[in-house]
Amino acid sequence: MPARAIAPLAEASPLTHAGGSAARKARFWDRIAVKYAADPIADMAGYETTLRRVQGLLTAHQDVLEIGCGTGTTALRLAPFTRRLRATDVSAGMIAIAREKLAAEPVPQLSFDVADADAPVAGQGEYDAVLAFNMLHLVTDLDRALQLAMQALRPGGMLISKTACIAEMNPLIRHLALPVMRVVGKAPHLLCFDADVLQSAIARQGMDIVSVERHGTRGKDFRVFIVARKPD
Ligand SMILES: C[S@@+](CC[C@H](N)C(=O)[O-])C[C@H]1O[C@@H](n2cnc3c(N)ncnc32)[C@H](O)[C@@H]1O
Repeated sequence: MPARAIAPLAEASPLTHAGGSAARKARFWDRIAVKYAADPIADMAGYETTLRRVQGLLTAHQDVLEIGCGTGTTALRLAPFTRRLRATDVSAGMIAIAREKLAAEPVPQLSFDVADADAPVAGQGEYDAVLAFNMLHLVTDLDRALQLAMQALRPGGMLISKTACIAEMNPLIRHLALPVMRVVGKAPHLLCFDADVLQSAIARQGMDIVSVERHGTRGKDFRVFIVARKPD
C-alpha cells in the first residue's frame, strides 16, 4: 500500500472502518438529510459535466442501480436516460425526501429504496450499470462494497463512480478538521484513499478501468470520476 494512502483518520485500514449496523450508519445521514437537500451544489459546472458524461454512457435499454443516492437529485436527472433506475440509500431520511421529490416530479423509470451498499442488493446480475456518486469513501468496507456492485452487474455492465479522495485533501483538513468534526458528530466515518488506491480496488474485483477523469472547476479537485466495466 503506498505510504500516502495510510490511515490518517485513525482507522485500522484506509479501506475499512467499524461501520456497525445499517441503522447506525444511517443515523448521521438521517440527521442531516433536510439540510443536505437544501444545500446548494458547491461546483455546479463540475456537477453538470458529470451529469452530461453519465447521460452519454446510459441508454434507454439499460437497467440501472444507484447506491448512496442521497435525496435523489442526480437520479431524477438520469432516470429519463434509462429503462429503469432503482436508486438506493442507507438513510431512510434521505429516501423519504427523494420520494417527495419524485412525487412532485414523477419520472416513470425511477424508484427509491432504503438499502445498505455494504450488504447484497436484490437483483444479482440484473443491472447494466451501477452508479456510485460521492459515496464509496463512506462505505464500511470498500472491497466488499465494490464486490457487491460487481455482483449486481450483468457481464459487460459498467460501474460509474465519482468519489472524494480524502487522502488527496489538505493534510490539515484530513488530520485535524475531519477527525474533530467526526468526534463532535459533524462528519461521518470516512475512508481515506487516493485515486490510485481506488482504481486498484476496482481492478481487484476483476473490472476493467475504462476512464479516469476529474470534472471539478473550482480549485483542487479531489473527486475522481471512474468508469469501469465488468468483463463479458
Ligand atoms: C455525500 S452523500 C451523496 C449523495 C448523492 N449520491 C450525491 O452525490 O449527492 C452520501 C450518501 O451516501 C449514503 N450512504 C453512506 N453510507 C452508505 C451505505 N453503506 N450504503 C448506502 N448508502 C450509504 C448516505 O446516506 C448519503 O445519502
